[in-house]
Amino acid sequence: MTPALMSDVKSVLFDTDVLARRIRELGQQITEDYRGKDLILLCVLKGSLFFTADLMRHIALPLTVDFIASSSYGESTRTSGVVRILKDLEESVENRHILIVEDIVDTGLTLGYLIRTLKLRQPASIRTCTLLDKPVRRILEVPVDYRGFEVGDHFVVGYGLDYASRYRTLPAVCVLKDEIYAS
Ligand code: IMP
Repeated sequence: MTPALMSDVKSVLFDTDVLARRIRELGQQITEDYRGKDLILLCVLKGSLFFTADLMRHIALPLTVDFIASSSYGESTRTSGVVRILKDLEESVENRHILIVEDIVDTGLTLGYLIRTLKLRQPASIRTCTLLDKPVRRILEVPVDYRGFEVGDHFVVGYGLDYASRYRTLPAVCVLKDEIYAS
């Protein structure tokens, strides 16, 4: 692992092998569920970049991928509660089967907002797939159709997830040392 970043890590929650195994299983499940359907994967930037790239290679179906960016936490580990779309889709989703691919569902506010917004565009269906699910912090109930792993009330980084725009390139999902979050 990137040595300079690794020295800030307190613990590894999911290492590369564990991530790869689970993502392969999710891909197989999605392949079975979407056979014969016009599937569009919707990667929520930037956190689900690595997850989407790995997941889509385990979905043995024709599909397209598009990208959407929503407002992030900025420099904090707490949500502002206000969700905005920073970058919208390029493709039309009308009559298509959308699978929203998220890195983590925390309060549920982001996913709830995305689902509400996308429903207005009349897709054939909307489902959600998240690598990580933090149910203890939920404010808004949202449907999670495919879930990689459940996590407790930790702020996690790595495999695409950042803290203050850093640590995305850690290959495992990790918790940082307390002093890093405090600084
Ligand atoms: P929510 O709207 O509170 O569910 O948060 C969703 C977004 O917040 C995720 O897509 C992440 O970008 C970010 N987020 C929430 N928890 C974490 C975390 O533990 N580490 C890194 N980013 C997080």
